[in-house]
Amino acid sequence: MIDLTQQANPVQKAKTAATAKARPQFPFTPALAREMEPLYAKVKSVITPMEWTAYAPLIREINLLKKQRNAVILAHNYMTPEIFHGVSDFRGDSLQLAKEAAATKADVIVQAGVHFMAETSKLLSPDKMVLIPDVRAGCSLAASVTAEDVRMLRAAYPGVPVVTYVNTSAAVKAECDITCTSSNAVKVVESLGAKRVLLIPDQYLSKYVQSKTDVEIIAWKGACEVHERFTAAELQVFRDQDPGTKIIAHPECPPDVIAAADFTGSTKAMIDWVKTNQPRKVVLVTECSMASNVAVEAPGVEFVRPCNLCPHMKRISLENIYDSLANLQFEVTVDPVVAEKARRAVERMIDLPV
Ligand code: 13P
Ligand code: SF4
Repeated sequence: MIDLTQQANPVQKAKTAATAKARPQFPFTPALAREMEPLYAKVKSVITPMEWTAYAPLIREINLLKKQRNAVILAHNYMTPEIFHGVSDFRGDSLQLAKEAAATKADVIVQAGVHFMAETSKLLSPDKMVLIPDVRAGCSLAASVTAEDVRMLRAAYPGVPVVTYVNTSAAVKAECDITCTSSNAVKVVESLGAKRVLLIPDQYLSKYVQSKTDVEIIAWKGACEVHERFTAAELQVFRDQDPGTKIIAHPECPPDVIAAADFTGSTKAMIDWVKTNQPRKVVLVTECSMASNVAVEAPGVEFVRPCNLCPHMKRISLENIYDSLANLQFEVTVDPVVAEKARRAVERMIDLPV
């Protein structure tokens, strides 16, 4: 069993993997091709026939294993299309996945996302087995702040409430008053009724929230390594090429990028915006895989794909999801004392009126 309360532990992973059963070969047969044809018809705009011969057998086996284990797969919007459309039971942004984790009746949750998401699932479903297919799936935001940092901030700003983005470890959440996601950050900050609020760890999300509220925001210095790389200059190139192109950005982007965008919102809000507005051409200023996932559901929209990959999200694959279910690896646990405090911060967010 692996404790992810602080950080991923590759050494322990290697030891556990050594004791796990080898994955069988699953052939792509004509019968399997026929059985999987309806799914392929849905995703063929984003998965090549060659890729499908490798993916289809694993998708079938994973879906069988899920039934045997009474398991569900919670997939973040940044998962690749074969995971997102092929094996996930619930898909969404961080807030939607946290709510699903709290509500599921399954015995096992496989988190197709990064480990702060798996920890959040464990906090909200403490009696269930929560698995992450690769324990190295971290996050630059979660790595940017420690529980000790939060204690230091509390000492420096006595009486100022601390809101943490869910992209943090359980140990950090345990030191904070409430969590937020990119969907609800403004609402969470304003729910506290305070003049000043510490909002950690994403400096850019904090700037975005500050632009939407009169509450004074005190920020931390963290950043998402995917979103901080986008620049307003590269977006201008897309506008110059085709002035009708719509640009929509995630609030983890720097302020000049957000200023250049037509809309800003969480990954769910971005998807909803595309489906509702059906733009002729759109740039999703966020992690690469999301455009492929939305393209399947919005075939009339042309997606321009500035591609910044999240290396942590991309650690999750069909292969390691299969291994995770077959070998019940790698279990996520949180120290019970830390978990109780961290759960309070997450539940306080979930209990806010919509
Ligand atoms: P949301 O899906 O909640 O918008 O978060 C984006 C993200 O970067 C998650 O790691
Ligand atoms: Fe973290 Fe950014 Fe990757 Fe999301 S996209 S997991 S915030 S590094």
